[in-house]
Amino acid sequence: MENNEKKRILSMYQCTGTFTLGNYLGALRNHIRFQDEGYQCVYALADLHAITVRQEPANLRKYTLEAYAFLLAMGLDLDKTIFFIQSHVPEHSQLAWVLNCYTQFGELSRMTQFKDKSAKHADNINAGLFTYPCLMAADILLYQADYVPVGADQKQHVEIARDIAERFNGLYSPTFTVPEPIIPQHGARVMSLQNPLSKMSKSDENQNGNISVLDDPDTIMRKFKRAVTDSESCVRYAEEKPGVKNLMEIYSCITGKAMDEIEKEFEGKGYGDFKPAVAEAVIGELRPIQERFRELLADKGYLRGCCRENAEKAHAIAQRTLSKVMKKVGYLPL
Ligand code: TYM
Repeated sequence: MENNEKKRILSMYQCTGTFTLGNYLGALRNHIRFQDEGYQCVYALADLHAITVRQEPANLRKYTLEAYAFLLAMGLDLDKTIFFIQSHVPEHSQLAWVLNCYTQFGELSRMTQFKDKSAKHADNINAGLFTYPCLMAADILLYQADYVPVGADQKQHVEIARDIAERFNGLYSPTFTVPEPIIPQHGARVMSLQNPLSKMSKSDENQNGNISVLDDPDTIMRKFKRAVTDSESCVRYAEEKPGVKNLMEIYSCITGKAMDEIEKEFEGKGYGDFKPAVAEAVIGELRPIQERFRELLADKGYLRGCCRENAEKAHAIAQRTLSKVMKKVGYLPL
């Protein structure tokens, strides 16, 4: 298949901290696989989105470069995939402004992430947090993406991007591809190990609930051993056992085993056997990536070169869409 006939996949990741096991299993690992499945993949680090919550500038720079190295360490292949940093491609901010003007206050008010984040950061409910979905729609629509793979928490944002695209296409003429979300069957919502009713997140105050992809083996083992379960001590997949269900999901994602196989494997055994087995699976999965990550991070010149080259590739695509949009809304060409 020629590149221009391939369906295009786009996704992005915030770089406000080290990726969690939730990002890894729910998103990154699946997304990188698409590059070998006949899609043209475009991925980026969403550093413009990152400042909707206050960031320490030095940390934001550090986490951005680390996140870039981490995806390469996972096997993202820059000969097949475009991978860039959002702020390096100014069209994202430019299209976001236009889309702001085609999105209603009421629609944005219904976004659950806005409600959650504004409750969590009550001292900084800034306009960017509110219009965040317009920037995310710009990210997607600039690249004429056919599919947007995300975890379950981002589905609502992809849906609003679809609505904005349809509205704009309807008002003018077909301009944007209307994207479809892709949500994985397993791992779409990896939960906190300390509170299995809330999603695992980088910003979790209780760091025992969150596995970072750079945690060392002892830390991973300790966190899994402390994971909240229940008093039944039976490895069984059931809604009323959210802690065990979450651990089983994690184990299943990594080993590829189905839930009934896992139940059989741990029949007659308790959580004392199950939890370390999950930890070992995670440690084994992350170890080679962590090693490669450290090598890559040592070569900052190489990483920066990759960032530059990929920003140029992304810019070439984004510019084509933006200029169509500018013409349609009636801006006088320079
Ligand atoms: P972010 O940075 O919060 O998460 C990146 C990806 O990881 C998924 N994810 C999870 N999946 C399963 N379990 C979890 N606990 C978990 N936590 C996070 C997210 O669903 C996501 O797929 N707004 C986006 C970033 C973004 C974007 C885009 C995504 C900006 N522009 C355009 C797609 C297309 C975000 O904050 O994801």
